[in-house]
Amino acid sequence: MKIRESPPPIAPRLTLRRPTSDDAPEVAGLLGDGSVMRFLGGAVPPDRAVRRLQNDLDHWRRHGYGLLVLEAAVRMGDDGAERQVFAGLAGLQIFEGDPDLSYVIAPPLWGQGLGTEAAVACLKWAFGPLGLPLVRAVVHRRHTVSQRVLDKAGMRYMSDRSMWGQPHMRYAVTAYEWPARVGLLAPATKPISILRAAPDPGAAPLRTPQPR
Ligand SMILES: CC(C)(COP(=O)(O)OP(=O)(O)OC[C@H]1O[C@@H](n2cnc3c(N)ncnc32)[C@H](O)[C@@H]1OP(=O)(O)O)[C@@H](O)C(=O)NCCC(=O)NCCS
Repeated sequence: MKIRESPPPIAPRLTLRRPTSDDAPEVAGLLGDGSVMRFLGGAVPPDRAVRRLQNDLDHWRRHGYGLLVLEAAVRMGDDGAERQVFAGLAGLQIFEGDPDLSYVIAPPLWGQGLGTEAAVACLKWAFGPLGLPLVRAVVHRRHTVSQRVLDKAGMRYMSDRSMWGQPHMRYAVTAYEWPARVGLLAPATKPISILRAAPDPGAAPLRTPQPR
């Protein structure tokens, strides 16, 4: 069966695009960062990160959607010029039979509304062009920042569950209920800046993707 692919969603300050195998260095840098992976099973070595990317590319081929690369225009460098940087990953992947929302923002860009922006863009994509009836998410019970992202993006806490021996929370939202739940969220407009002090001294620096 031919899978119909849908163009990635549009967000106010982020560019979202389908990943390619050329994204491996940025993906490995992100998933190899212990602060990023604190609630996601810990830092992933480069070879496993590349395998994950290959699985994501395969997910796209099989389902017509998947994980997206996030890019953002930020002012950086001595000249203060605006550059497009790799800002993280977000998207929808089938997990236990349903589309599951996930998002990872590069640490120097945390706390500027980008996690929420990416989550909202993915839900808009899910319930708009992709025509999905339901999206789920799972979050570690101690990961209050991600719970806030899910709440703000219009998802609803459903129940507790254990995953990898750790306490987690299940979230979900249907296509029917989502527009009313997210309706009051004002889109973020503040220009993106790089945090002077990275949230974690071991955090990976921002990377400017090489021209393709
Ligand atoms: C979770 C994550 C995506 C959040 O991204 P972000 O861009 O910093 O999130 P936002 O700026 O949209 O913030 C969302 C809310 O969390 C709050 N928040 C952000 N950082 C915070 C911090 N360090 N401490 C307390 N609250 C924080 C924000 O203030 C905002 O709430 P508010 O609207 O009430 O002010 C980011 O921390 C990340 O990539 N973490 C690693 C990967 C991960 O855990 N992904 C989620 C898996 S379930």
